[in-house]
Amino acid sequence: MKITLAKHSGFCFGVKEAIKKAEQTIVENKDNGLKIYSCGPLIHNKNVTDELEAKGLSIIKDPDEAEEGSVVIVRSHGEPERFYQKAEARHITVVDATCPFVKKIQRLVSDAKNQGYHIVVIGDRNHPEVIGINGWCDNMASIVSSLEEAETVNEDRLFIVAQTTITTELFQGIVSFFRTKNKEIVVHNTICHATEERQKSCMETAIDSDLMVIIGGIDSSNSKKLYEIAKKYCVNTYFIQNKESLPLKEVELCNKIGIAAGASTPERIIKEVIATMSELFTENKKDSMMHDLMDE
Ligand code: F3S
Repeated sequence: MKITLAKHSGFCFGVKEAIKKAEQTIVENKDNGLKIYSCGPLIHNKNVTDELEAKGLSIIKDPDEAEEGSVVIVRSHGEPERFYQKAEARHITVVDATCPFVKKIQRLVSDAKNQGYHIVVIGDRNHPEVIGINGWCDNMASIVSSLEEAETVNEDRLFIVAQTTITTELFQGIVSFFRTKNKEIVVHNTICHATEERQKSCMETAIDSDLMVIIGGIDSSNSKKLYEIAKKYCVNTYFIQNKESLPLKEVELCNKIGIAAGASTPERIIKEVIATMSELFTENKKDSMMHDLMDE
């Protein structure tokens, strides 16, 4: 059995920074009794968020739920402009772990709104990153994730950006559609480089595998995209959260196994999955040696 891990897998720069900032904040405030919160889980990985919770980080949905004067960490997905106003009004210290790539999109849409453009965000309307971006242009953006939705955009001067984790294919398809509509459009491909690298190496690995395993959190948008991509090139693709959900029976039947992991998947979990597969391989080898000996 050959196991190949996609070249770009696991924690991206933005997630690493967010975890580092959260851990620093917990240590710095250890003795002053201040409550520390994050608005929503810091990253889309339950193992990591459980560990942070055990160290003292509580999860809330809105700064209104935080104690006055406490500390709130903004996760890498970012928050709407209104979040910062609310936090200030309640004397909350904001530790901003918004990924710089997401910050850039927030700045772009805010400026474009002031210049009179109608903002189009290509992405998932329910994803916190997109909700945050929309909150920097007065929640007036059109959020589109398909050509059908793009058809409902009637404004003429469009400023188009992408959620950082969508596929290049989706982005290009929708931008091409708008180009055919003779509208004045300004396009910023804001898909993050880490996402593109992960998608490309996931595809390359899937092409050369009998079975693909994508490791990621159940709510992780970028991991789900990796699953969609891998499935196109290797029908035998499985989405798992950790070694416990590995499809061992199917793995046993294959020779070339590929693995890719989303940007919020810790290295420890990737290593555990690989170790479990390798053990399976070793046991099977032992079994077949036993059979050979018994046959002799
Ligand atoms: Fe940032 Fe890209 Fe990661 S936008 S959080 S580096 S996937």
